[in-house]
Amino acid sequence: MFITFEGIEGSGKTTQIGRLSACFGENGYDTVVTREPGDTPIGKKIRAILLDPDNSGMSDLCELFLYGADRAQHLFEVVLPSLNAGKTVLCDRFTDATTVYQGAARGIAKGLIETIHSVVVKDLRPDLTVLFDLDPEIGLQRAFSALEKGARTADETRFEQEALEFHQRVRKGYLALARAEKERFLVVDAAGTQEQVFEEIVSGINNRLGIELRGKGTRAS
Ligand code: TMP
Repeated sequence: MFITFEGIEGSGKTTQIGRLSACFGENGYDTVVTREPGDTPIGKKIRAILLDPDNSGMSDLCELFLYGADRAQHLFEVVLPSLNAGKTVLCDRFTDATTVYQGAARGIAKGLIETIHSVVVKDLRPDLTVLFDLDPEIGLQRAFSALEKGARTADETRFEQEALEFHQRVRKGYLALARAEKERFLVVDAAGTQEQVFEEIVSGINNRLGIELRGKGTRAS
């Protein structure tokens, strides 16, 4: 099973993926948690370049190809071997992030992005994509408060430095994708409490994928 997670900065994906991974584990699934960019040794170096606020002069095309390069390595080293071994892969961001951040928000042509996806991921599609929907004003506030608390380092803030309108285009882009591919997307309201969001995700995953996750913090427990 291949499940991806998307959303604006500060939407709470990482926390929920951690809980969900524990829940999949308790239910007997061999689960791998991974993320883009930066889940391989090469990817970590690419991530550092991509998110460094000092790289504000990066061209849109350079950014696009670096995300593609990270993804190619990630598929080769982590995602495909895990799926081939029958594992459940929970992936924090995937191709939809490129479609939305580099496409809808930066304005790179859809055709070019689709061509790169077809070269890099070929016909691999997530079984389900969980979209954490949140007002960017709230998301950015959360992201900056995580920075102040030291939960995130300042050397990974190139996207947080973007204007609010950029993040609004990202949100709109994600919602448009979710409308276009209703069967693949599960949209959750990320403004709720951690508990509410978790329950919404677990019941959505159970319904959509026809499985029955039970465990701590789920209604089925
Ligand atoms: P995160 O790991 O904290 O979610 O940060 C990754 C950042 O990279 C986030 O701002 C979204 C951005 N991003 C893209 O712009 N395009 C992509 O394809 C991916 C995977 C992430």
